[in-house]
Amino acid sequence: MRAKKRPEVRGILLAGGRGTRLYPMTAVASKQLQPIYDKPMVYYPLTTLMFAGIRDILVISSPDDLPRYRALLGDGGDWGLRLSYAPQAAPRGIAEALVIGEEFIGDQASMLMLGDNLIYGRLDFLREALAGNGSGATVFAYPVGNPGDFGVVEFDADFRVLSLEEKPAAPKSNWAVPGIYIYGPGVAARAKSLKPSARGEFEITDLNRAYLAEGLLKAKPMGRGIAWLDTGTPESLLEASGFVHAVQKRQGLVIGSPEEAAYRMGFISPAGFKALIERIPSSEYQACLKRALE
Ligand code: TTP
Repeated sequence: MRAKKRPEVRGILLAGGRGTRLYPMTAVASKQLQPIYDKPMVYYPLTTLMFAGIRDILVISSPDDLPRYRALLGDGGDWGLRLSYAPQAAPRGIAEALVIGEEFIGDQASMLMLGDNLIYGRLDFLREALAGNGSGATVFAYPVGNPGDFGVVEFDADFRVLSLEEKPAAPKSNWAVPGIYIYGPGVAARAKSLKPSARGEFEITDLNRAYLAEGLLKAKPMGRGIAWLDTGTPESLLEASGFVHAVQKRQGLVIGSPEEAAYRMGFISPAGFKALIERIPSSEYQACLKRALE
């Protein structure tokens, strides 16, 4: 008898876009390759997907930048991952990632993470949200003091979403929506039926609203103690670097390391982790990982 194949959530890491707010840094290098303190930005969302338990990950970027991501991340084998790559011909919107990823997603659930979002803290809520998602979609909710600058979600006591608004003048809640989303099987078909918005993009908010219209959209609050940083502007990039530096220095831990995430998640053995560390050039990063092994 053939063993039934275990359903495996697919991860999509979206690392394209224009990066205009980071010009001129993004004139020749993709936004998500810029450093946040001691690592490329993309390492942070990659490890978030890993801590959600996801090993099958599609990296999407522009045709020009995609080879650089491939050079940086490889096939993921060293980290116990299966990484694949697909181009987005032009930055036509975040929701297009689900169309590009149609074949990759197959009939599985998926988690889409934006390459310029940094989430730090106990990530159990990600695994809980995945387990509770079913055939609908889940957005996360993060309390902020300036909701009008974000997508804003309003939800009831059962975490059913009541409204979802993009940068509202009169926010209905103080819950902002971070750049990480869960979709049940069949999301590509829904994404394909979207029409471009006034700014010519396939909007992720429109996709989520399609689920909302059918009563299939849930909100999962990120608890206190979770740090969520978006790193798309020079100032937020600097703040994120300061945050990573402070936590790493104070706690002696490493944030956003795929090697360490692979080890902690049991994707690689202690011996495998040790071998990886030995291949890393003598650096602060190597020293951090050695401490993690101890
Ligand atoms: P944004 O930060 O909204 O846009 P951007 O990256 O193009 O930057 P800027 O506003 O400074 O021009 O995008 C959010 C994330 O989604 C970011 O990681 C880039 C990614 N993205 C794509 O990969 N493809 C797209 O078509 C869009 C719109 C965004």
